[in-house]
Amino acid sequence: MMHVGREVLPAVEERGAIAPEEMPGVMSDAPAVVLRGLRKSFGSQTVLDGIDLTVKSGETLAMLGRSGTGKSVLLKLIIGLQKPDSGSICVQEQEVTHLELDAMNELRKRMGFLFQHAALYDSLTVEQNIAFPLKRHTKMTEGERSDRVKELLASVGMEGDLKKMPSDLSGGMQKRVGLARALALKPGVLLLDEPTAGLDPITSGEINDLILKVQEEHDMASIVVTHDLHSAKTIADRIALLHEGNVLIEGTFKELEQSDNKFVSEFMKRDS
Ligand SMILES: Nc1ncnc2c1ncn2[C@@H]1O[C@H](COP(=O)(O)OP(=O)(O)OP(=O)(O)O)[C@@H](O)[C@H]1O
Ligand SMILES: [Mg+2]
Repeated sequence: MMHVGREVLPAVEERGAIAPEEMPGVMSDAPAVVLRGLRKSFGSQTVLDGIDLTVKSGETLAMLGRSGTGKSVLLKLIIGLQKPDSGSICVQEQEVTHLELDAMNELRKRMGFLFQHAALYDSLTVEQNIAFPLKRHTKMTEGERSDRVKELLASVGMEGDLKKMPSDLSGGMQKRVGLARALALKPGVLLLDEPTAGLDPITSGEINDLILKVQEEHDMASIVVTHDLHSAKTIADRIALLHEGNVLIEGTFKELEQSDNKFVSEFMKRDS
């Protein structure tokens, strides 16, 4: 269940939100996320080598790239679970790299995050997993919370699984619960790591529709890491392709498909 390192757990638990009616959302036309010269190495391995990327307010950016290119690392840097070696990360006009823990936790209340491996709390039921951030960071009554949990689970087609433990769910179901939890607090910035991986085409389509729907309703900015080109085409306003530590190309799906760059055109032609 908990495939992410133990060190991220407290940070995840600190995530949360404020009452939905108090959600600040994305108030201005300022970009939601701006990355400048972002570098991250592990030992002698340089993973990110000077990433420059801007995600506009209300925009969905799909992040593509081969396995191991640093897509998950990039999201973890944005949410502050890992620290970059150098460079700047601005989320809703706040520089993340220098924030103290308290300020980072405040900012995280405005960010929804779905880990690549869902990372549900193993000892909590599905219902309790979704209720967790609501309980911790909103003033909802038990009844309001229960309604919101049901609404969120229905939106990912999991309304019948309230009482199940994460270990009783398939990988795809865990992912859907993780997505519902990421949306619980109506975040201004949503970061999704492979939301449709391991799901059948019909469920993937439903998740794509859900992402589009919440996007429209809440005007969130989203970064969606995906291997699924169909999903990228469906949900993204813009695509960025990560390659050898840099953003090799960014543009619309069509622009990437029509690129003269050999790597890009082959990447866009593959089946999955
Ligand atoms: N905490 C860490 N310590 C050491 N190396 C790490 C750590 N986290 C990530 N890496 C390395 O960074 C590289 C990028 O990893 P990352 O998980 O971001 O890839 P990815 O693009 O998300 O791949 P995938 O598509 O398979 O999920 C990999 O070589 C990985 O081994
Ligand atoms: Mg990954």
